[in-house]
Amino acid sequence: MRLKLFRYNPEDREQRYDIFEIESRPGMSVLAALFDVQKKHDDSLAFRYSCRGAVCGTCAMLINKVPRLACRTQVAKLLDGSLEMDLAPYPALEVDIDWNPEEEVLVEPLPHLPLIRDLVVDMEPFFAFYRAVRPVFKPEGEAPARERLMDRDAVSALEAYTNCILCGACFGACPVDAKNPDYYGPAALAKLYRFHIDPREAGDGSRLELANTPEGWWACEFHTNCMRVCPKRVPPNIAIGKARRELSEQGREPER
Ligand code: SF4
Ligand code: FES
Repeated sequence: MRLKLFRYNPEDREQRYDIFEIESRPGMSVLAALFDVQKKHDDSLAFRYSCRGAVCGTCAMLINKVPRLACRTQVAKLLDGSLEMDLAPYPALEVDIDWNPEEEVLVEPLPHLPLIRDLVVDMEPFFAFYRAVRPVFKPEGEAPARERLMDRDAVSALEAYTNCILCGACFGACPVDAKNPDYYGPAALAKLYRFHIDPREAGDGSRLELANTPEGWWACEFHTNCMRVCPKRVPPNIAIGKARRELSEQGREPER
């Protein structure tokens, strides 16, 4: 099989695509194919990974024009078309290069983030939005003598949002992030909502204000790319819809 890889050299700012012939193995992941390139063809290839098991979230890339984790995406499934996904369009999905999806796996960096080198991007803008929603548990009052218990319904309500591994795939898949660099993005908003509905906090709704701006809850256009690409089935669009409904019902919409 052939891998077509985006390359970027920060020294001369050259951008290009390189093609490598790889011997594919049953169950081979895109990450394993990148290791083969590094070991056998070009040891200067830069990419980021850590756990190799869809846990750390560091290997998100644009693979065949869909943001995915390289460690859990199998090359055979890409080539037989079984992983095709129909996403709402945005510029990074446009195919303006020569690419045959039946014979080549195309790997590019995660969109909407500054390039560092080859497939490595600077995640700082993504994490800046994450920090802005204050993603830490902050109960009021004295700590109880034993753990703070939640009932099963409360756990079910926030469970889906706790699975986020901060890979940024949703950020790279969002047509609003593509055109508005001030938009918080799906992951940060989902995390904010997760703490908003945590019954162990004050529950006065003040957390929702952290994104009650035109660049926060109200910028989402509900394309739902975020939910479709998320490797952990987190549904940020549902969190955003619920937050907006709550704010609207309470007459707390910002002026736009
Ligand atoms: S919500 Fe999903 S896609 Fe977005 S950062 Fe979290 S795990 Fe990744
Ligand atoms: S290497 Fe950790 S999620 Fe892919």
